Amino acid sequence: MKRILLGISGGIAAYKSAELVRLLRKNDYEIRVVMTHAATQFITPLTLQALSGHAVHTQLLDANQENAMGHINLARWAELFLIAPASANCMAKLSLGIADDLLSTLYLAAECPVYIAPAMNQAMWNKPVTQENLKRLAQHKVSVIGPEAGSQACGEVGYGRMTEPSDILAQLNAFHAPQLLLNKKILISAGPTREALDPVRYITNRSSGKMGYALAQQAQLLGAKVTLVSGPVPLATPKNIHTIYVESAAEMYTAVMQQVAGQDIFISAAAVADYTPDKMQTEKIKKQGDITQLSLHKTQDIVASVASLANKPFTVGFAAETDNLEHYALDKLQRKNLDMIAANWVGQAEGGFDSAYNALQVYWQNGQKTLTMTNKTQLANQLLTLIAERLDA
Ligand code: PMT
Repeated sequence: MKRILLGISGGIAAYKSAELVRLLRKNDYEIRVVMTHAATQFITPLTLQALSGHAVHTQLLDANQENAMGHINLARWAELFLIAPASANCMAKLSLGIADDLLSTLYLAAECPVYIAPAMNQAMWNKPVTQENLKRLAQHKVSVIGPEAGSQACGEVGYGRMTEPSDILAQLNAFHAPQLLLNKKILISAGPTREALDPVRYITNRSSGKMGYALAQQAQLLGAKVTLVSGPVPLATPKNIHTIYVESAAEMYTAVMQQVAGQDIFISAAAVADYTPDKMQTEKIKKQGDITQLSLHKTQDIVASVASLANKPFTVGFAAETDNLEHYALDKLQRKNLDMIAANWVGQAEGGFDSAYNALQVYWQNGQKTLTMTNKTQLANQLLTLIAERLDA
């Protein structure tokens, strides 16, 4: 069990701390919570007390709390100090060593690893002084989780959203995971492809890219050098990951084949179209009779092409199935000459396409493993751990 001190500073994202505490506890972390005065305006200490199972610390000089667990003892107790959300003001104070409340004092007293999950308005995040504070904190060996891009509580759009609690948890776990893929080069494909029929219409599928992007981010945390080839998805470009955007199956084929030389691992998580229109019409196709027909031809099989290379990387395919999961997955493993295949059910109520969750049945020559339903971040971590094991075997 890991002892984690959770610092909560003032910001609307403080409401997410309740879920964070719940998840940390579920994952066997022992938690003590410390809140700034501003944080208590957004979420009550009582809520966090109930969820953490311990009294919440809010005062630097509180005779009762100093008796129970003084602030220095609290700092010594922690094996890990996470501040989530870390507001712009909180980051500024920590970066300068200002200790005028319990949270900032604990930061100075802490000797354990410190992580912050910033959350603030996008303009505050982009302000040069905040970026300077961030750099200073990084120099002081503070690890930074997020923030993410997207729409914010204030109605603006940009970087500044606190990373989701499940992703913070996965990153904390990964920070402490051995660097299983240190310096390994990994190429990952993600998302759907779009096969154009005419200038305004295309054939595509329900892939959101979440599975492939989670793999890319987790591979990076495990020490790998990642290249991501992404179909059109609404996800933010992952930070510090070389990302190449493509649209059609043909473009994905070209990008993957251009990048594959020298890769140790290729993971084909993309939902690539099996068929594409014979011809893209240059004008919008006009409505005609009651029935119309499309003429399609097979696309090139990207993962099979990679697996047929003389110097092929460890090649992992996915199998998305609505029936006979094992049968079709094993057939693809053999037919495409893969080293491993991760099979998932699609078209069900939970998991598969677009969901934040998934489960995988993984097969390789003479072996298999079940990865049960969890969020795609954790699942990606589990699949990469398995790949690292098989790579060594
Ligand atoms: O993106 P998400 O919303 O998070 O959803 C994740 C997912 C369901 C898309 C993912 O988990 C998944 O299953 N990806 C593979 C989808 C797929 O196309 O499966 P398939 O069984 O049709 O293809 C088998 C394998 O061949 C896949 O690795 C696929 O990438 C590859 N393929 C297929 C056709 C083609 N022309 N080239 C290929 O490389």
